[in-house]
Amino acid sequence: MSSLTRHSEAATNRGKRSSWRRGSSNSLPFPPYSTCKSQHSGYLPTEKNLKIWKLDKEVRTMLMNIIKGRLATKDTMGYGSDLLGLMLEACAPEDGQNPLLSMDEIIDECKTFFFAGHDTSSHLLTWTMFLLSTHPEWQEKLREEVLRECGNGVPTGDMLNKLQLVNMFLLETLRLYAPVSAIQRKAGSDLEVGGIKVPEGTVLTIPIATVHRDKEVWGEDANEFKPTRFENGVTRAGKHPNALLSFSSGPRSCIGQNFAMIEAKAVIAVILQRFSFSLSPKYVHAPMDVITLRPKFGLPMILKSLEM
Ligand code: HEM
Repeated sequence: MSSLTRHSEAATNRGKRSSWRRGSSNSLPFPPYSTCKSQHSGYLPTEKNLKIWKLDKEVRTMLMNIIKGRLATKDTMGYGSDLLGLMLEACAPEDGQNPLLSMDEIIDECKTFFFAGHDTSSHLLTWTMFLLSTHPEWQEKLREEVLRECGNGVPTGDMLNKLQLVNMFLLETLRLYAPVSAIQRKAGSDLEVGGIKVPEGTVLTIPIATVHRDKEVWGEDANEFKPTRFENGVTRAGKHPNALLSFSSGPRSCIGQNFAMIEAKAVIAVILQRFSFSLSPKYVHAPMDVITLRPKFGLPMILKSLEM
């Protein structure tokens, strides 16, 4: 797979890709491939392009305001110890050398992290809440585990690492409701994949959602909700060690996956400590793929405080 590159790298930078993909997502989950090829049409002031440019400007202004705040407090507080602070350091090295990152690149990186890390994580949490509501026996088991390992206080990293059932539950959620349903790769040279010749430049779509429900990969119960399939670890759950593709695989896999998992565990743990919950009768099951998989009509729920 080494000569497969991410299709999106054809765009001059990732930030531009994010805005383009979002803007084109009104009705189709992904733009048709003919749209991908006719990149010059992106310069015409069509209704869609005007909307994309407006959104792009809004996001850029929002990020520039955050950056300006950091620059203004640089002398008293430094650039900050987070990722943005590190990038700003790289943009203005003290030793007079050329900046490692331009301001445009910093803005693009911020966009990538925001779009790659926000909707994905929030939809993992959404579908986890959905599955916990539709499987109350698992909700009870997970709550027992959380109360045993974390008590009623704020969980620490060590406590979260002990939540095995929660981990299995999240992995099964990622399998059945992968927030990213498909990814693309572009062949960098002529190659052969699984006996099929793929000419250089071909864009391949990897249908994660389809692979995740394939009976040949996961067994006859592929369509069933069964967190225990992950009890011996993620690499042993399917017939192939990389069968779970929610965070992609290989050198361009998700850089935030460990963070996303610990974040999800923390959120689910504190909700389970405080509430029991079920689906509202108003819920309509209509998963919709708009870059990320989301419930089309939201997830109305009924929460009961456990402290009452
Ligand atoms: C449940 C949560 C998440 C899921 C399901 C997810 C999924 C993915 C997938 C499938 C890719 C590969 C995309 C491709 O190859 O075209 C990816 C890439 C990426 N993700 Fe995530 N992601 C999640 C959370 C996060 C978080 C929290 C962050 C940042 C804090 C993040 C940052 C990134 C970045 C920067 C890339 C691009 C990596 C590269 O191109 O080398 N993701 N993610």
